[in-house]
Amino acid sequence: MTKYASFYQRSIEDRDGFWAEQADLIDWQVKPSQICDYSKPPFAHWFVGGTTNLCHNAVDRHLKDRADQPALIYVSTETGQEITYSFAQLCDEVQRMAAILQSLGVKQGDRVLIYMPMIAEAAFAMLACVRIGAIHSVVFGGFASHSLATRIDDASPVLIISADAGSRGGKVVPYKPLLDEAISLSQHKPSAVLMVDRGLSAFTSVPGLDYAYAELRQQHMNAKVACVWLDSAHPSYTLYTSGTTGKPKGVQRDTGGYTVALAASMQHIFEGQAGQVYFSTSDIGWVVGHSYIIYGPLLAGMATLMYEGLPTRPHGGVWWELVEKYKVTHMFSAPTAVRVLKKQDPALLSAYDISSLKALYLAGEPLDEPTAQWIADGLGKPIIDNYWQTETGWPILTVANGVQKMPSKFGSPGVPMYGFNVKLLSDSTGEELTGAQEKGVVVIEGPLPPGCLQTLWGDDERFVKTYWQSVPGKLVYSTFDWGVRDEDGYFYILGRTDDVINVAGHRLGTREIEESISSHPNVAEVAVVGVADALKGQVAMAFVVAKDTSALGDANARLKLEGEIMKLVDSQLGAVARPSRVLFLSLLPKTRSGKLLRRAIQAVCEKRDPGDLTTIDDPTPLQQIKQQLDV
Ligand code: PRX
Repeated sequence: MTKYASFYQRSIEDRDGFWAEQADLIDWQVKPSQICDYSKPPFAHWFVGGTTNLCHNAVDRHLKDRADQPALIYVSTETGQEITYSFAQLCDEVQRMAAILQSLGVKQGDRVLIYMPMIAEAAFAMLACVRIGAIHSVVFGGFASHSLATRIDDASPVLIISADAGSRGGKVVPYKPLLDEAISLSQHKPSAVLMVDRGLSAFTSVPGLDYAYAELRQQHMNAKVACVWLDSAHPSYTLYTSGTTGKPKGVQRDTGGYTVALAASMQHIFEGQAGQVYFSTSDIGWVVGHSYIIYGPLLAGMATLMYEGLPTRPHGGVWWELVEKYKVTHMFSAPTAVRVLKKQDPALLSAYDISSLKALYLAGEPLDEPTAQWIADGLGKPIIDNYWQTETGWPILTVANGVQKMPSKFGSPGVPMYGFNVKLLSDSTGEELTGAQEKGVVVIEGPLPPGCLQTLWGDDERFVKTYWQSVPGKLVYSTFDWGVRDEDGYFYILGRTDDVINVAGHRLGTREIEESISSHPNVAEVAVVGVADALKGQVAMAFVVAKDTSALGDANARLKLEGEIMKLVDSQLGAVARPSRVLFLSLLPKTRSGKLLRRAIQAVCEKRDPGDLTTIDDPTPLQQIKQQLDV
């Protein structure tokens, strides 16, 4: 048996022994008395009786050995700001922020919603929350007022932390008007809003509600706020993600399990060492930003490079220039970003000294082989695909080079990671598929390893129903992804089994987009489908049956309505959710029993054979799609 195979086997068969060892990677105030309590499946309680603190392990713990070494390197090619915080400086900033939170009434267990661009203050805010046991909930800055309002209502935060604006491609994107609108739309009202003013976009403060960060920071300049020792099961944060319904799910993570899982992943998967530099190009609004911009690298004593800007501005080699300048050792990005870089001059890949770089990790969407090969050839570095989800917090499938060097196979993220008992089940019978090349649903047997979601915020029942009861008669966690395994045990991910789509590595629910479009007065019915796209992996396309069709024979009138619908989605959900096209049909393609034929629509848009159409009620709408797309 290979070294990794026995490491993996032990994680499944001697679960408690395995994770007890991993638990030693972090500092505990009180060591756990029990490793895993799985007496109430599917709820797993990791490191029972232990008390620890995520901020202590990420920041304070390193003060003894590396107070003056870089911890947070902040670079914005949007504003030109570039600043490095040592561990000591980061600790000071986090304590100032923690004191501000306390002065605004935030207590242990309270929620703090963070709606911020990629600025250092966002990192301070997250760390300050976990320092005092407040539960942060970061909402991606690209989401607009309606999306934000639903998250405010679900998280019911005491405090919201935001900023005047973000910036993208040199264009200022104001946040404050969207936040004000979201607060007016939400039922729940926060008691305070803390505003970081970057001086990018003037705004009016709401008296009695809004507080200026710069002023309060001044008041708390010398604040000392100790880390609060928290029960291992205390929630560290919630992070909203999309599912099949319009209501986003608040993925809830614990403290002890998450800290151990990330510390272990930094060692076994990323081979990260204190003093090295980790550069993840994700955003704090997504799970990769939580695990591998903020917590993972800092837990390992590495500096983390936090970047605001595009990969192509001021020039297409800016990332490699940063690798050279800051001696980046680990990079983490998404396949879409690589496909964007593919359009740039390939000479840029070798224009800088990137000898410090050990590997480029890619995740979030399928990594196609040509893209992987292109970047591998261009950089001359290992390219490591890894597959996981907001729910799991760290990779389910990849290669654990820190345990044993294993070859990557392009097109496959790799093998199951330690702790994840991954299986493939037949979607028709629910039986386990053990043969090579058999396509099934990727599931994980409980208990999920440390670091994965504990539950959905405020909704244990939805947690159980959504993830654990999709296969009748079996209590297994469904990833809602199709997969196959090859003869060597490497998995290949073949897309989602549900209506979730993946646009440029961003996970979006089609239902949310449909609900937004339905609110247009001239929309009778709508379906949103994910369609393959060479750059973004997938794009959302909307198919609309209009109420008043009298004008729609005219191309200009169709364009006008299409524009209105796109604007509506922009303003409610944000540009990330905007459909790439809106097509108008006389009716939606459905079966005689009224079920929407999503796959047939998708196939027609992707110029594929729509397959068996014997159950279709009326084929006209598929022809209308063909005509309009000219396929
Ligand atoms: O469909 C899978 C796809 O993205 C989904 C999870 O997205 P999210 O919750 O945003 O978490 C991203 C964490 C990296 C999965 O269910 N996905 C993620 N990584 C890969 C992937 N599909 C193929 N290959 C991957 N490496």
